[in-house]
Amino acid sequence: MGKRDFLAINDLDDTEVSGILDMAASMKEGSFIGKPLREKTLAMIFAKSSTRTRVSFEVGVSQLGGQSLFLSSRDIQLGRGEPIQDTARVLSRYVHGIMIRTFAQDDVVQLARNATVPVINGLTDLLHPCQVLADLMTVREAHGTWEGIVVAWVGDGNNMANSWLNAAGLLGFELRLSCPEGFGPDAAILDFNTKRAPVHVVDSPHEAVKGAHVVTTDVWASMGQEDEAAHRREAFRGFGVDEALMAQAHPKAIFLHCLPAHRGEEVTEGVLEGSQSRVWDEAENRLHAQKALLVSLMGDHRDGDHD
Ligand code: CP
Ligand code: NVA
Repeated sequence: MGKRDFLAINDLDDTEVSGILDMAASMKEGSFIGKPLREKTLAMIFAKSSTRTRVSFEVGVSQLGGQSLFLSSRDIQLGRGEPIQDTARVLSRYVHGIMIRTFAQDDVVQLARNATVPVINGLTDLLHPCQVLADLMTVREAHGTWEGIVVAWVGDGNNMANSWLNAAGLLGFELRLSCPEGFGPDAAILDFNTKRAPVHVVDSPHEAVKGAHVVTTDVWASMGQEDEAAHRREAFRGFGVDEALMAQAHPKAIFLHCLPAHRGEEVTEGVLEGSQSRVWDEAENRLHAQKALLVSLMGDHRDGDHD
């Protein structure tokens, strides 16, 4: 079988998502003892900042017996204009997998096309599939399933919103999005997933969260949009998640945020630190979900058995 990439949630099927999250759960509880990345190296290219993605991948690879290389795009020749296609072919001669965080999704697609090793999308302007994989794990921990679950997205129709759309389309749960006018999700991703799942763009945050089991949001200005921050603060007025909005959701609703968060903008301190918030579990689950993903894409499966 050829190499597999993870550029978007729908590079997996629903059974694979469940299987990876089962393995992630066994890793979290400590019943996974293999070292399936022994003598394997993951190259990690970062063109944007990161705390969680960098640390969870580095620690995860190490726990699986492998090693990782942090490659800032400022320091490698990619940042001086070496083509991504050449970078892909060269890195493939040294390492067993490549994780990349960058701006254009097309760069990740080009990297994957030209690499002979698996490529993982660690965030682009369009998608953040590793985060939504961890979010799905967090939803399953809280609610036992994503079947019959209603997820409310409030705020910017950004990379996180687009990956939630792909997850809803793949797994079939209901997703309601409420975004300020002009800040909706990617039109093609919305259209594709509206045909596959009960996905609704609604008029107000109130309509989105009514009875929802998961309320989630993200920053109003993503990495690369720093110059638009002031304008966006105006445009997003009324799209913050506060205690009053959470009270409209299902009584057992959880609050998710991929972090970093801007308290007082897209979420209040009270919600972020409140009893319904699962954001720290969500951040932890990056480690477990990505370890399981790495095993499925790069692992020596003979050494990856559960006890
Ligand atoms: N959520 C997330 O991807 O965090 P980092 O930007 O810190 O990696
Ligand atoms: N939407 C945010 C997510 C950060 C993890 C960004 O792209 O900056």
